[in-house]
Amino acid sequence: TELDRIRNFSIVAHIDHGKSTLADRLIQLTGTVAQRDMKEQILDSMDIERERGITIKANTVRIDYPAKDGKTYVLNLIDTPGHVDFAYEVSRSMRAVEGSLLVVDASQGVEAQTLANVYQAIDAGHEIVPVLNKIDLPAAEPERVKEQIEDVIGLDAHDAVLISAKSGLGIPEVLEAIVTRLPAPKGDRNAPLKAMLVDSWYDPYLGVVVMIRVMDGVIRKGDRIKMMQTGAIYGVDKLAVLKPQMVDIEELGPGEIGIWTGSIKQVRDTRVGDTITTEKKGCETPLPGFKPAQPVVFCGLFPVDANDFEDLRDAIEKLQLNDASFSSEMETSAALGFGFRCGFLGLLHLEVIRDRLEREYDLDLITTAPSVVYKIFLRDGTMQELHNPADMPDLTHVDHIEEPRIKATIMVPDEYLGDVLKLCQDRRGVQLNLTYAGNRAMVEYDLPLNEVVFDFYDRLKSITKGYASFDYQLTGYAEDYLVKMSILVNDEPVDALSMMVHRDRAEMRGRAMVEKLKDLIPRHMFKIPIQAAIGGRVIARETLSAMRKDVTAKCYGGDATRKRKLLDKQKAGKKKMRQFGKVEIPQAAFISALKMD
Ligand code: GTP
Repeated sequence: TELDRIRNFSIVAHIDHGKSTLADRLIQLTGTVAQRDMKEQILDSMDIERERGITIKANTVRIDYPAKDGKTYVLNLIDTPGHVDFAYEVSRSMRAVEGSLLVVDASQGVEAQTLANVYQAIDAGHEIVPVLNKIDLPAAEPERVKEQIEDVIGLDAHDAVLISAKSGLGIPEVLEAIVTRLPAPKGDRNAPLKAMLVDSWYDPYLGVVVMIRVMDGVIRKGDRIKMMQTGAIYGVDKLAVLKPQMVDIEELGPGEIGIWTGSIKQVRDTRVGDTITTEKKGCETPLPGFKPAQPVVFCGLFPVDANDFEDLRDAIEKLQLNDASFSSEMETSAALGFGFRCGFLGLLHLEVIRDRLEREYDLDLITTAPSVVYKIFLRDGTMQELHNPADMPDLTHVDHIEEPRIKATIMVPDEYLGDVLKLCQDRRGVQLNLTYAGNRAMVEYDLPLNEVVFDFYDRLKSITKGYASFDYQLTGYAEDYLVKMSILVNDEPVDALSMMVHRDRAEMRGRAMVEKLKDLIPRHMFKIPIQAAIGGRVIARETLSAMRKDVTAKCYGGDATRKRKLLDKQKAGKKKMRQFGKVEIPQAAFISALKMD
């Protein structure tokens, strides 16, 4: 395809502003997918994505569009995830395209993720077409939102395209704007092959599938290809474009986006951001590199039933084939037995992976307290990274501890601002900036990541009735007074519940934990002390009193089926319990105990 007939673009938007619906309409209106095959959110292929309505992995579709000028254009849409945890995937797919549609819900206006994503597009040098969606809603205020886009983002929005992705209104205008307002890609067909590895995933039939964007030169079926970072050589067995199903193609030239396969065994062998060239007469300099996604949140995953350990190992390996950003390492816990210490890009990533393990692989799991990566500086001058509070070295060896900090951007209607500031303050935040756009405030905070990983987002949503939006980026490490808090149940430490906390907040967290555990742990035949401690010092304590004998008396006599039902329930519940010394703790306790109110 000639360069001037190609347009490559992505859609950036805040969650729920209608990115997927717009993509569906573009695909539909151009007849890319036959009407009978059309289903909602066609680009979100994973079940979980569909159910939760969030986009996780970047997906791509090639659309043939006959424009008003009489020529047919090839439009490549790279769909990007909207959530903060996947910011890295956004940035890499941005570099593969020249333009973006900025979708803003005309009834909501600019939100935190609109900003985060649009800045990535600006950084990638994109031409940007603002699109105001949901103008069918009575609450839509396109003129006000145009102003806001100009004030807050600094983009010219006077000729924003007004659409309703739901009804289809304005979609032809979007297609024309893509052709007339976004730039064509540049590239030299006669130069040596230079292509960017945009994404890769594992397909059970094809093996590793690699998505590329060709910058210069041509890639053909049968070529011998070199990955410049690793030096690995592969043949091109299959070359295809995504419409969105694979359609084989003989060659891909400059500006084009497609996939190839070549008996690559592991997703790990394909580094996103790597430059691909031909084995012979290849290009000399690679494209500027990307930094790989680093896991920032760690937690332990243990099977409820120790016999499921091998199944868990298999399931984790399978998921890793498709997700190189999810790391794991075997871990043993005194209380929980054998499991894995896993690393994630953020909390949502953690939840998605845990969900998939439980649902797709039918596993019952115990998740330990999520922890960020601390830097422990020892007296002997060395530094070690701490992924698991259980591995905290003896305090006498520790000089100081540093923790990761973030810059958080929160957008919120005026009336909730006070509560938001209080929440950030309570979480050890330092205010950096506060500005207004209309009656919405935009506030920036420097916060410890540790205070955000548990339930910050949930709390923020609940105190603002869902009106706040939130986004963050890691900024670096800083020293603070951090300690390891242990939880003891019946005098036995439960390592899965130990966590790193700020010294000033330890009593509060400790008290909240033991109070919760007291409600969550069922009574036993004996008294159970529940304690929070720092080192040897107890900072909070509750006692769960013993069960009174006559409580069980109710179980005798009465309706037999009811009794059986109760017994079945008990059995099912039992499966979700873990034995700690003489005490049984339900799985739900681990999760609930870690949520703060
Ligand atoms: P993520 O995939 O989570 O990033 O969300 P998204 O931006 O793709 O949003 P999505 O397309 O899933 O739309 C979110 C909700 O808004 C859905 O319930 C849509 O039906 C609705 N919606 C999308 N476009 C319109 C529109 O033009 N008008 C109205 N009234 N609702 C719309």
